Amino acid sequence: MINIVLFGAPGCGKGTQAQRLKERYGIDHVSTGEVIRGEIRRGTELGRSMESYIAQGKLAPDEIVIGMIANYVAEHLDAKGCIFDGFPRTTVQAEEFDKILAKHGLKVDIMVDIHVPEEELVRRILLRGKESGRADDASEEVIRDRLKVYHDQTAVVSDFYAAQGKYASVDGIGTIDEVFDRIAGIVDNVK
Ligand code: AP5
Ligand code: MG
Repeated sequence: MINIVLFGAPGCGKGTQAQRLKERYGIDHVSTGEVIRGEIRRGTELGRSMESYIAQGKLAPDEIVIGMIANYVAEHLDAKGCIFDGFPRTTVQAEEFDKILAKHGLKVDIMVDIHVPEEELVRRILLRGKESGRADDASEEVIRDRLKVYHDQTAVVSDFYAAQGKYASVDGIGTIDEVFDRIAGIVDNVK
């Protein structure tokens, strides 16, 4: 089983690359952002409680997101592996994630950090926002707030995995295929 944490700022290409990795390696993909948006679409109580965080580009509370991932892991123990996209996003989440996995005899194998300069991130998200219907893609102000949250609260999570010798970064500029080849080169060396 291989567990990959796909990391990087909003718009760096986590979702896009996760889709490719899923096909190449036959592993699962879970995006906490997608799970939350699904809850909002279905109008569940959990979804309603998350709506304002997402719309403002703020992080949802750790305990809620950690609970979602704990359930996900417990329900997918027979998977060949998994790509965790957008999780963990705080050091608390990273610490709890190790405990959740350890409970099932599992671990994170590698964090892949996709690096893209800020102006390109804004450009990509604004472009996607024309069609995505995502509340947090609609205005440049919210996009910039998401990037600030990333720098202030999330970027530090890379240190957690670096300290465990599980950190790799890739240049996220180039075609989707080029970026994929860089990531696959790292994943192939982990196995
Ligand atoms: P989440 O859904 O995770 O969003 P995000 O991190 O802001 O990232 P995006 O999904 O916007 O971008 P991406 O990196 O997936 O890039 P994509 O492949 O789409 O989180 C949303 C919200 O949920 C958070 O703000 C928070 O409120 C909450 N949340 C989620 N997880 C949480 C957690 N763990 N804790 C607390 N709260 C949490 O690509 C972007 C665009 O660029 C696309 O249009 C794509 O086609 C294009 N593109 C991709 N690759 C390339 C390329 N190489 N060249 C040109 N364009 C490209
Ligand atoms: Mg995404």
